[in-house]
Amino acid sequence: MSALFPTYARWNVKPEKGIGSKIIDVDGNEYLDFISGIAVCNLGHCHPKVTDALEKQIHTLWHVSNLFEIEGQERVAQLLVDHSVGDYVFFCNSGAEANEAAIKLARKSTGKHHIVSLQNSFHGRTTGSMAATGQDKIHNGFGPLLTEFTYIEMNNQSALEEAVTNNTAAIMVEVIQGEGGIRLMSDDYAKALQAICERYNCLLIIDEVQTGIGRTGTAFAYEQFGLSPDIITLAKGLGNGFPVGALIGKETLKDSFSPGSHGSTFGGNPLAMAVAETVLSEIFKPELLDSVQNKGEFLTKELKNKLGSFEIVEEIRGKGLMVGVACQIEVAPIIEACREKGLLVLPAGPKVVRILPPLIVTKSEINKAVEILTDVLASIKPSVSV
Ligand SMILES: Cc1ncc(COP(=O)(O)O)c(C=O)c1O
Repeated sequence: MSALFPTYARWNVKPEKGIGSKIIDVDGNEYLDFISGIAVCNLGHCHPKVTDALEKQIHTLWHVSNLFEIEGQERVAQLLVDHSVGDYVFFCNSGAEANEAAIKLARKSTGKHHIVSLQNSFHGRTTGSMAATGQDKIHNGFGPLLTEFTYIEMNNQSALEEAVTNNTAAIMVEVIQGEGGIRLMSDDYAKALQAICERYNCLLIIDEVQTGIGRTGTAFAYEQFGLSPDIITLAKGLGNGFPVGALIGKETLKDSFSPGSHGSTFGGNPLAMAVAETVLSEIFKPELLDSVQNKGEFLTKELKNKLGSFEIVEEIRGKGLMVGVACQIEVAPIIEACREKGLLVLPAGPKVVRILPPLIVTKSEINKAVEILTDVLASIKPSVSV
């Protein structure tokens, strides 16, 4: 009997070891890992440079309070502002915490409370980030929720016009909804979003927890939507598996996070910073980001070629190495069958297969994954499809 709270319905695989794009379980079975810890291990498992950086730091200094100057924080913050539209960084330990900080910063800096977010969004499980999440199933049983959140349909400009008022502190979005089904924001909607933030003097918060750190082929996904967010939130890929989160904000917000206003004991500790510095130095290399775009196009093209004609496949969509195969049926059995054939993929909502290989994946690994997925989908009888 397990002593764990059953918050996760766990799969019947016990991973023991990870190398690059592969996971090996306790029985010696090898899996192609196209989940990457849900967009976390972007440089693959046990990347040698990241492992070395952590090992070195382990023998130097693990932790000091944020009352001290931590040099690694300065370097990682500089890397983040050099590659984004932001000017200042706050470090925390997870995506939910980064979004929690964003909600607090938006309310404090604008003096307003109303926050607009999107239906089907996912921003985390803490009280604030859960309230920002536009999904009833995440809220159920945990009310009363933090107030003054409005959830609107993505890509519906009239709903946006209706929801935003002079009392709106911020609009919080993912440009590609990850948990919500790999749903992309349209370019027109992105333009309208930026314009309405300027018109009502409210902040644009972009949650890049899943899309950020090279996942879509640029440092941050918002770049591909022509947006200039006031606040960017990060976690997942920033630590390649070491827990770390961050909020990047524009210059105008600096005074609202004055000494004593917000904090975190572990946020940005030397271990996390040693890892994050190495991760960013690798991922922000233009050749790496170009290779993500190239391999992403290859993956999408192969999926469309091989799966496009299957009756149950509705759409193949995404950017870079964040791709969804939207189906007419629930995908849980597809995901299980892939796993049995040695390919790890995961659902994004009930009907989308989510594919998130590490950014260092090879084209031959992509070919193998597409082959497994094709075999699995071919074995599903069309009669089951509607
Ligand atoms: C877009 C997005 N925001 C926030 C979170 C929450 O991050 P964490 O689980 O690190 O709190 C997630 C996690 O899946 C996410 O995908």
